Amino acid sequence: MKHHVINEGKPQILTRRTLATSSKILTHLIALTLFLTILPIYYPYIRYILEKPTSTSSYDLPHIQTTATLARHHPLYRGHLLPATHQKGNDEKPPEKKERGREEVVLTRRGSDGGGNKSCDLYSGEWVEKPEGSYYTNETCWAIQEHQNCMKFGRPDRDFLKWRWKPNECELPEFDPVKFLEMVRGKSLAFVGDSVARNHMQSLLCLLSRVAYPNDVSNSSDLNFKRYEYPDYNFTISIFWSPYLVNTERTDRQDITQPFKLFLDEFDESWTSNIENFNYVIISAGQWFFRPTIFYSDRHVIGCLYCPQTNIRHRSSSFSYRRAWRTAFRAINSLNNFKGVVFLRSFVPSHFEGGQWDKGGDCVRTKPFKSNERVMEDYNLEMYKTQLQEYKYGERDGRRKGIKFGLMDMTHVMHLRPDGHPSKYGHWPSQKVTMANDCVHWCLPGPIDAWNDFLMELMRRELR
Ligand SMILES: *[C@@H]1O[C@H](CO)[C@@H](O)[C@H](O)[C@H]1NC(C)=O
Ligand SMILES: *[C@@H]1O[C@H](CO)[C@@H](O)[C@H](O)[C@H]1NC(C)=O
Ligand SMILES: *[C@@H]1O[C@H](CO)[C@@H](O)[C@H](O)[C@H]1NC(C)=O
Ligand SMILES: *[C@@H]1O[C@H](CO)[C@@H](O)[C@H](O)[C@H]1NC(C)=O
Repeated sequence: MKHHVINEGKPQILTRRTLATSSKILTHLIALTLFLTILPIYYPYIRYILEKPTSTSSYDLPHIQTTATLARHHPLYRGHLLPATHQKGNDEKPPEKKERGREEVVLTRRGSDGGGNKSCDLYSGEWVEKPEGSYYTNETCWAIQEHQNCMKFGRPDRDFLKWRWKPNECELPEFDPVKFLEMVRGKSLAFVGDSVARNHMQSLLCLLSRVAYPNDVSNSSDLNFKRYEYPDYNFTISIFWSPYLVNTERTDRQDITQPFKLFLDEFDESWTSNIENFNYVIISAGQWFFRPTIFYSDRHVIGCLYCPQTNIRHRSSSFSYRRAWRTAFRAINSLNNFKGVVFLRSFVPSHFEGGQWDKGGDCVRTKPFKSNERVMEDYNLEMYKTQLQEYKYGERDGRRKGIKFGLMDMTHVMHLRPDGHPSKYGHWPSQKVTMANDCVHWCLPGPIDAWNDFLMELMRRELR
């Protein structure tokens, strides 16, 4: 009997114990499952936070560049940037390869659309005909810089002015200068970047010139640091020159063909210490990263691009591009009083065909591509994807601090516009210039006027 009771009791105790144990195990299992689910999602981000600037072997160039390569690089000319030196021309690739590239890009972009009407991706669409052409001419706009005044230098065709961007699923409203100025009353807008950023600013000034003229309240005559004030609207537009976004030095003060030193982990204070009070910042960077450069982190050389030294690790453009963006976003996210919105204007490829920029390459097309005719390839795609990745991280960091980011994704849109560059109409035939055919900047008036259609729509969505 006793025996029996014990026998009866034992299983009960065991069961209770087993239950307790198994529920503990279950809790652990759930925790582990959660952990294993979350880890892969956050791992890239954790790695991003912990990553030391030197652990980047996958971005190395496959071979060492020689001094002969270096000699192919030419100086900047009056603030002009220079295009890719390892450009292969935009020769068409078989469609299979293209489809894949396009798909990837669309996928990446969808997730990072800048808020507002999520049902309409502004950047999937086509250039469609707009017979009425542009809203201003080289005679009505005062802000067109010499090299982009294609009409003045005899560009014969006008069809490149007669297109507008049509997103597949909605309309992109045309820039309305009156509505725009009302929207930005009492506000300030800063451009940060290179001469393509300036090109964009000048397009905005031209579109606004139909209704208002600003006072030039710049501190200097330096085109790289301008400030314009629209007194009736208490609205200012500024530009901060920073083609690499990070702190730089020249290796040779006189000879600009010599490599630049890029301090990839240091802020470029010429903009980072000036943007805190702006309501909008449009930041961009691009072709300068294809120039000869020496990369520093923590003041130590960690690599170079097109440098003659053989004892330095040779790295690709996207290596420095990634780090520069990372540092730029860190700079923005470290601002304590910044209350504005930062728009990243994405990487825009150049359009040299039939040779490199200094080997007879040119852009002579007179109409846009259809979106299925072209897809970005190799290093252009690499630059774009690198930038989007860093944007994603920067935006996530910013969100925690209440800093708003928006993506102005001009990459694919502008890839379809080989017809909008000055080509040889950026100077007189007799003038000797570094870049004989400019397939990097954009004629004004011209297709980048559409960037302000996008800008206005992004601002509108932001305010909603
Ligand atoms: C504008 O372009 C025309 C050619 O279409 C040219 O004759 C004129 O000089 C240019 N004007 C300015 C101010 O650039
Ligand atoms: C969003 O876009 C869709 C598709 O074009 C359109 O039908 C809808 O009216 C838009 N909604 C808003 C709030 O703009
Ligand atoms: C102009 O706007 C700034 C903010 O950008 C504001 O501080 C200032 O008071 C405004 N001035 C006038 C005259 O409205
Ligand atoms: C111009 O200089 C003044 C005074 O030195 C300064 O307050 C202002 O911020 C400067 N503006 C720009 C755009 O650098």
